[in-house]
Amino acid sequence: MTELAESPTTDRPRVDPYSASRLAITREFEVPDIHIPADETSSPWVPWGDNAAIRHLAFDVRNNKFTNILWVKGGGHLGVHRHSGAVRGFCLEGTWRYLEYDWVATPGGYVHENPGVRHTLVCDNPSGMKTLFWMEGTLEFYDDAGELDEMMDVFWFIEHYVTYCRANAIPVNPALFV
Ligand SMILES: [Fe+2]
Repeated sequence: MTELAESPTTDRPRVDPYSASRLAITREFEVPDIHIPADETSSPWVPWGDNAAIRHLAFDVRNNKFTNILWVKGGGHLGVHRHSGAVRGFCLEGTWRYLEYDWVATPGGYVHENPGVRHTLVCDNPSGMKTLFWMEGTLEFYDDAGELDEMMDVFWFIEHYVTYCRANAIPVNPALFV
């Protein structure tokens, strides 16, 4: 059995990622963690059409990224759409699926959506569904003729949230703006 050669890096000083200078710089420039409590004042359920609502959790305007929970309250179609960025979804309650696939998202299920793919969200479940989505880029909806019908980016989601807050005397929560 051949013995392993001694690592040529053994005699070199080891990198210390927690050096005093690195820690000081980190403390100076780090951004504190954020917690959004579960109550409606921290972030309300904002109606989206007659059968759905969105609970906004984060708006990142520097990177056009946003996080929210989509609540579809009963059976319904969300329409054909595509994303210009990746989307991660985690099903919290109920069930839903995309017409283009044979899987069904159930509580605990994870979905990764890739940019450019057109898909059609369907919730057959009469009890609806809730899913946490981490989204980036734009969300584009298409009509039956394949024409662009609506394009939603981080500013669409901010407008959705802020307009509702102002109409209902709910303070805009600065913690949502990461
Ligand atoms: Fe999607």
